[in-house]
Amino acid sequence: STPIIFDTDPGVDDAQAIAIALRHPDIELLGMTTTFGNVDIETATHNALLLGEIAGQPVPVAQGSACPMVKPRHPAPKHIHGDNGLGNITLPEVKGQADARSAAQFIVDTVRQRPGEVSLVAVGPLGNLAAALQLDPEITRLVKQVVIMGGSIREGGNVTPVAEANIFNDAHAAQRVLTADWPLTLVGLDVTHRCILTPEHMARIEAGQGELGKILAGSYDFYRAFYREALGIDGCCPHDSVALAWLLRPDLFETTRGHLGVVTEGPAEGQTILAPEGRGFIADRWSQTPVVNVCMGVDGKAVSDWIADTL
Ligand code: BDR
Ligand code: CA
Repeated sequence: STPIIFDTDPGVDDAQAIAIALRHPDIELLGMTTTFGNVDIETATHNALLLGEIAGQPVPVAQGSACPMVKPRHPAPKHIHGDNGLGNITLPEVKGQADARSAAQFIVDTVRQRPGEVSLVAVGPLGNLAAALQLDPEITRLVKQVVIMGGSIREGGNVTPVAEANIFNDAHAAQRVLTADWPLTLVGLDVTHRCILTPEHMARIEAGQGELGKILAGSYDFYRAFYREALGIDGCCPHDSVALAWLLRPDLFETTRGHLGVVTEGPAEGQTILAPEGRGFIADRWSQTPVVNVCMGVDGKAVSDWIADTL
């Protein structure tokens, strides 16, 4: 099975993905690291601990970034994930505590314990991965792979016309992480907007997941109202679970390879730009950054079914 660290800002769709990471027999969840994003950092850590406990599978949770690396925080999207990140449903008390280490230290320690084995799956703003790179630059050759839910190449943005939320929320961190020299795949809106988790999918998940299912279904109802209004669809995009689908079922995706750039200032802040491999652009700053994988196509129905089948 695939050992992962899941870096997250739970978040309704994060919670769905955490459930998959906990339940899928082919994933070994070594721990979660938390970041601000959909909610503040304390709430993110609380929700990560809670979801593990409710699933009956508590895993280490290490708290990370409370704000972007360089700029002040953009406001949290409370109308999308609710004040508590889980659609404002009533939640039980958390029993456990976060790991004493920072998220970055937890990442470095865990990767060093199992060199060449650990995949980092990051589905929030990227400050923790950027901090881990700063703490120990050698992890670039010690991780197995890095999978990022974030960015958008052709699809346009979801918080500005060009920016996706996770990248927009800390563009400077994203710039470091997406141009570091490690085996990386970007799973952005180009594919996550093609996947729709329908009410039928969620009814199956609720029926199959006991106490955890109630939380996933309750928070889904809140999230669904946003999708109905914003995109006119009945259902929601399970963004963060799509990163796990790529990890276990890459056969469901079409990828392209190229160099990435992130806009950190101005009206296009948070935009991700892909320079396809081998195109020989005149400004060769592009060829100086490593080549990564970017998901550009997906069998969206198969991915959504995979999520519901897993749960
Ligand atoms: C991403 O932003 C967050 O709101 C979601 O949890 C997901 O990680 C989608 O743009
Ligand atoms: Ca997220």
